[in-house]
Amino acid sequence: MDRIRIRGGAPLNGLIPISGAKNAALPLMIASLLTEETLELGNVPRLADISSLLRIMSNFGVDHSIAGRRPGQTTETGQTIRLTAKNVIDTTAPYELVSTMRASFWVIAPLVARFGHARVSMPGGCAIGTRPVDLLIMALAKLGAAIEIEAGYVVATAPKGLRGAEIDFPKVTVGGTHVALMAATLAEGTTVIRNAAREPEVVDLAQCLVKMGARIQGAGTSEIVVEGVSRLHGTSHDVMPDRIETGTYAMAVAMTGGDLVLDNTKPEYLQAALDVLGQAGAEVTSTIGGIRIRRNGNGIQPVDITTDPFPGFPTDLQAQFMALMTRASGTSRIRETIFENRFMHVQELARLGARIRLDGDSAYVEGVPTLKGAPVMATDLRASVSLVIAGLVAEGETTINRVYHLDRGFEALEAKLARCGAQIERVRG
Ligand code: EPZ
Repeated sequence: MDRIRIRGGAPLNGLIPISGAKNAALPLMIASLLTEETLELGNVPRLADISSLLRIMSNFGVDHSIAGRRPGQTTETGQTIRLTAKNVIDTTAPYELVSTMRASFWVIAPLVARFGHARVSMPGGCAIGTRPVDLLIMALAKLGAAIEIEAGYVVATAPKGLRGAEIDFPKVTVGGTHVALMAATLAEGTTVIRNAAREPEVVDLAQCLVKMGARIQGAGTSEIVVEGVSRLHGTSHDVMPDRIETGTYAMAVAMTGGDLVLDNTKPEYLQAALDVLGQAGAEVTSTIGGIRIRRNGNGIQPVDITTDPFPGFPTDLQAQFMALMTRASGTSRIRETIFENRFMHVQELARLGARIRLDGDSAYVEGVPTLKGAPVMATDLRASVSLVIAGLVAEGETTINRVYHLDRGFEALEAKLARCGAQIERVRG
């Protein structure tokens, strides 16, 4: 298995191009199941999760092609993928495939909306928590799907199609909102989704669905109204920039010091995190195509944060921020309110010399003057990248095992960091 080896101590200087967002690309790819025409997606990142989803979609009978290279494209600029769900021969998503990637459960929505039938394995828990799908099932049931649980599978049927409904989510759920939105586009009548997730990825999906002929209003607010249509058509759409990748490199330069431009991204996608970085001592400014982050000499200030749905501080940046706080000049409190078990990185950061105490949903991080390199590993991709951030300042050598977690969510991570001065390399295993 590959490992990442880092020698800490080098500041980051230069420019990092931000990739298309994994968490936007996945639902957009799934949305191609809503039409028999071709959906062309640009700026799709080259990631293991994208390949996994393509395999799942191929299993349904979806044809796909990946466009060849274009002028100016490198292996770090996204790819263009065309998906055509014209001849869907199977509406079952088996456990072996769904268990590798939870987001693939979302295929249940377009399948039942367009074909009246879907049989999708329950995804099960994962390293960051129990992660149930009850609210996704509730949304489909409200839209008139008959739901049965059979031998670990959710079977959703709607032979006469779905009907518009009022869906009130008791809790903000990104996946639930994606599912309700996709299913409602082909339901008969009006659907109102209340307490909808406001994440930019929901807006990206809604914009693409509108280009496909859907009638949607309010995406990006907590109430989304969808007027169902009888069919959708193909279109072209570019995946939005990855706000979590953006925030990760922003935290990395706040940690190492230096001057980094993050290109092809938007500050408004991660304002809460950028504000916190400002309080921690980084200087954040907007550029024409993105964000510039600098930190020189003055040390890192402790800042308390609480994770929240958008526009709050994202849970997907919590681990990275904790890595930064391990070097702050004081103690910070990091509260995780989205996933109950998302502190797997704490023990590994401790191996590098971090002082962190867990108490319920909170981690108290007492900053230390130095971290020391060590072999570490992590159980999810954001936790893994937090170890990269810590490794970038740890004295000596840090080796990060189980690199496949990073490959699920960070395109060309070591190349992007190495070009900005980091001493980082992949060791093929
Ligand atoms: C999405 O997961 C993201 N995944 C996650 O990113 C992200 O952490 C999460 O949203 C929150 O922002 C993708 O976009 C592919 P939720 P999702 O439904 O949709 C509870 C990463 O690292 N809940 O918004 O699965 C749930 O347990 C990943 O890229 C229910 O109780 O998250 C959690 O506490 C990890 N019942 C909360 O809601 C349900 O039916 C929010 O989860 C569904 C969710």
